[in-house]
Amino acid sequence: MALKKLFTEGVVKREDMWITSKLWCTDHASEDVPEAMDRTLQDLQLDYVDLYLVHWPFRMEKGTIAASEFQKFCPVDICSTWRAMEKLYDSGKAHAIGVSNFSTKKLGDLLTYAHITPAVNQVECHPVWQQMHLRAFCQSKGIHLSAHTPLGSRGTSWVKTDILKNPIINMVAEKLCKTPAQVSLRWGLQNGMSVLPKSVNESRIKENIDLFGWSIPHDLFLKFSEIEQRRLIPGHFAVHETLSPYKSLEELWDGE
Ligand code: A2P
Repeated sequence: MALKKLFTEGVVKREDMWITSKLWCTDHASEDVPEAMDRTLQDLQLDYVDLYLVHWPFRMEKGTIAASEFQKFCPVDICSTWRAMEKLYDSGKAHAIGVSNFSTKKLGDLLTYAHITPAVNQVECHPVWQQMHLRAFCQSKGIHLSAHTPLGSRGTSWVKTDILKNPIINMVAEKLCKTPAQVSLRWGLQNGMSVLPKSVNESRIKENIDLFGWSIPHDLFLKFSEIEQRRLIPGHFAVHETLSPYKSLEELWDGE
């Protein structure tokens, strides 16, 4: 309703907004994909989304509430889900389609049968988890890498590391008279990715947009390669020794 009101009142034009939504794991069956899309369009009162992503490379029974209900996992069949996603693209309801949380291998497998190459792979990416290999692969295939959790989801109960306290990020921020959040986000932009920081705080939202008209110079940019690497959202909820198609984190991320 909020979006429709803004469009009707002329506050913002639909074509000036970029709206992405994701297909949840309980809607992977090919007949459920268009229904899920329609539900989203109805909820948001939209005719189309700019981008629709397969949220995770695993599938759960319809009606499952928590991703940790391991007994509700179904065998993975990304091919049939992707075919249904391609139909959404053809229908015009999704102007672009892509995936999220796909490893290089899973993306490579998808490319072997995709008629439409995913426009985007949206994954965890920030200076503490730089995804070098995946980034290079996406670039070589013309797939845009979009960074979720670009501030490492600091302050949440599920992430203990605060990437904004990292000494290298702070050193760069001090030298450039910027905040640690700004240099982390700018690092992403300078690496060619889009960054999706979340904030409920107006001044931080403004801070997180103020990323243009300045850049991290080459010598300081190189310093980011010295940052110790660690995935902060491992996805334990998708892994179970017997009940999940992914028996280990190694299998979920294919060693990345
Ligand atoms: P808040 O909503 O109170 O601003 P991510 O986008 O990586 O998931 O991180 C989101 C977390 O980072 C939220 O806890 C958010 O808190 C915090 N955050 C967002 N922007 C900033 C900023 N510029 N400086 C510090 N923390 C920020």
